[in-house]
Amino acid sequence: MMKASILTFSQTGNTLKVGRAISHALGENGIRVEHTRYLHRNNWDPESADLIGIGCPVFENMPAECVPEYLQLHNFKRKKAFVFITSGGSPAKSLWHLSRALSRTGADVIGGMQLRGAVTVPTKFGEFTGRPDERDLAQASAFGNALAANITEKTALPDQYSINSKQGAGLYNILGPCLTYLKKKITPLPVSDPVKCTCCGNCVRECPTDSITINQGVVSFSNTCMVCYRCWHVCSSDAITMRFSPGDGTIERLLYANRMERFFGNIKADENIGPNLYKDVLARKIRLKYDRKDPTAEFETDDMKVH
Ligand SMILES: Cc1cc2nc3c(=O)[nH]c(=O)nc-3n(C[C@H](O)[C@H](O)[C@H](O)COP(=O)(O)O)c2cc1C
Ligand code: SF4
Ligand code: SF4
Repeated sequence: MMKASILTFSQTGNTLKVGRAISHALGENGIRVEHTRYLHRNNWDPESADLIGIGCPVFENMPAECVPEYLQLHNFKRKKAFVFITSGGSPAKSLWHLSRALSRTGADVIGGMQLRGAVTVPTKFGEFTGRPDERDLAQASAFGNALAANITEKTALPDQYSINSKQGAGLYNILGPCLTYLKKKITPLPVSDPVKCTCCGNCVRECPTDSITINQGVVSFSNTCMVCYRCWHVCSSDAITMRFSPGDGTIERLLYANRMERFFGNIKADENIGPNLYKDVLARKIRLKYDRKDPTAEFETDDMKVH
């Protein structure tokens, strides 16, 4: 029986939904699938897989940087592989960058897919609510079927899944690497309020870059932080403060205003972006949709599932 091994980095579940739909389709086609969350990457065992899948969200117009960095540790020589990403309105060339990082492991990247995902960045919260939706997930299933046909019957993948460096060329592609670099340089590290902090450890468990430690009741952040807001989201006691960027998100609001994204991003003319409720989020008038007290619950059952 053929085996596929998929590693998905997903902080708010969007990319995970896509990975799950692809996994399910592969499973329906008689392929054994192991699907692992990036946070549990130490359990990931892709060695015996015939097909490797890597999924992650877009952060600052690039694939979330911890994933390409992690791929550098691997050698997937001659293994077939695929990539998938979810994003707001400005994925730029992330699919290509992720595919390139995977190719550097020696893998033969046969195709990829990018879909929309609801945005929970505090400065853009509320955009693309409900995405990936049923139609998106149907597309992910179709991708899974095409991958299965490729590895079992050697059927060529349809052109729509090919990845090329021209996708997403333009302003956001140029901004991406600069912003990733600048954000880490100029955005203050998160801060935890020792009075509110209950030392629950959520932030430590969920930080994708292992940048948080708790020592004698004090939470510290190291400069490996990639400013992903995850600790801020998952703190059940509202103890963490993030300043987003100089001007409390002004830069993001300007760079990613809806009109800018419509013009420079990949939003289709008839595609609904949804509201941008950043002010309410900053003022803590609204809560994020998932349960801040138990942020991992919705993911746990999916991890390491074998179809
Ligand atoms: C720190 C951060 C930066 C982001 N930057 C971008 C971006 O530059 N372009 C974009 O289209 N979406 C951006 N997004 C939106 C995410 O790519 C999108 O919400 C994605 O679906 C999240 O996937 P997940 O739920 O699997 O984590 C960003 C999200 C975060 C948290
Ligand atoms: S913002 Fe928080 S969760 Fe994200 S990398 Fe930095 S310390 Fe870790
Ligand atoms: S998630 Fe919040 S309350 Fe829990 S340890 Fe981190 S800062 Fe403290």
